[in-house]
Amino acid sequence: METVVSGIRPTGRLHLGNYFGAMKNFLQMQETHNCFFFIADYHSLTTHPNPGDLRASVRKVLSEYLACGLDPDKCTLYVQSDLPETAELYLLLNMHAYAGELERSTTFKEKIRKQPDNINAGLLTYPVLMASDILIHRADKVPVGKDQEQHLEMTRTFGNRFNRMYREGFFPEPVAFNFGKKLVKVPGLDGSGKMGKSEGAGNAIFLSEDDASVKKKVMRAVTDAGPEKPNQEKPEVIENLFTLLKLVSTEETVKHFDDKYNDCSIRYGDMKKQLAEDMIRFIRPLSEQIRDTAADIKHIDRVIDLGREKARESAGKTMQEVRSLLGFRP
Ligand code: TYM
Repeated sequence: METVVSGIRPTGRLHLGNYFGAMKNFLQMQETHNCFFFIADYHSLTTHPNPGDLRASVRKVLSEYLACGLDPDKCTLYVQSDLPETAELYLLLNMHAYAGELERSTTFKEKIRKQPDNINAGLLTYPVLMASDILIHRADKVPVGKDQEQHLEMTRTFGNRFNRMYREGFFPEPVAFNFGKKLVKVPGLDGSGKMGKSEGAGNAIFLSEDDASVKKKVMRAVTDAGPEKPNQEKPEVIENLFTLLKLVSTEETVKHFDDKYNDCSIRYGDMKKQLAEDMIRFIRPLSEQIRDTAADIKHIDRVIDLGREKARESAGKTMQEVRSLLGFRP
C-alpha cells in the first residue's frame, strides 16, 4: 500500500484553499492509502507566534481536520512537534542541503520580502523541514496545492541525494498529488491571486465562517468594469471569480454566467450573489460540524495522543536505518 504524508500550518483556521488544495484529497486517500496527516506547528515558528496561541491553534486545526471527516481509525493524525524523529532527520538533512539551492527557492524569496525584519534560518531551511516530514514516513504521494510544488521538487532532490550517498532506493521519490491530476490554486477574493490566511482580511473564506460574513466578503470581491466586446479573454480578477464558482456551483450555473460574460450582459452583482449562496451551501454543514467538534477538547487530545504513538512507530523505523546508514549508533 502506498504511503501518503501531508500537513497544514496551524496559523488560524482552514480556508477554502486548504480544503480544495489539500483536504479534499486527504478525505479520499484515507480510504485507500496508508496516510499520515499532521499539523505543521514547527513550521509556524518561522513567523514567531505566541506560545498560547500556537497551542490553541493546533487544537483548532485538528478539530477542523476531524470536522471535515478525517477519521483517526483510518489515518494517522498527529502534531509535527510530537515527533522528535522529524527534528533529527531535519538536522541530518541540513548537512546535505546547500545554501545556494535554499536561497533560490521562490517561497524563501517571497518570505524575505514579506518579513524583512525576521529572516531567520528556519525560513531558509523551511524546505528541509518539509522534506523531513515527508521522508520520515518514506512517502510516495503528497497531496498539496500548487503553491507547494517547488517544495516537493526540493524534497526529491534531498531524498535522491541521500540515496546516492548512502543507499540507492532508500527513500521513494514523493510526488505532489491531486485526484484531479492538476494541482489546484484557489484564488483569493481581493485580486491578489492566491487565497491565503496571511493575505488581506477579505481575501480568504474560512470553513468556519458564518453566512453573513461569507456574503459580505464575496460581495466585496474585486471585479472590473465589465467586458467590452463579445467572447473576450477574461482578465485575471474575473477568471478568479469563475474559478471559485467552478468549485462550489453546478456546471449549469457556471455556464449561465460564462454565456452572460461572453455576450457582455453579465452583472457581476448577480454572479457574486450566486457565488455567495453556493459557498454558504457548501460551508454551512462544515462550519456546524466544526463548532461541535471544537467543543470536545478531551476527544481532540485523545486523537493527538493516539496519532503520536502511530506516527512515532513509523518514524522510528526510518530513523533507526538512517542513523545506521550515516554511521551513528542505531
Ligand atoms: P499551508 O499551511 O500554507 O497550506 C496547507 C495546504 O493547503 C494548500 N493551500 C492551497 N491550495 C490551493 N489553493 C490555495 N489558495 C491554497 N492555500 C493553501 C497548500 O498547498 C497545502 O497543501 N509548508 C506547508 C505545510 C507542510 C507540508 C509538509 C505539506 C509542512 N510540511 C509536508 C505537505 C507535506 C504549508 O505551509 O502549507
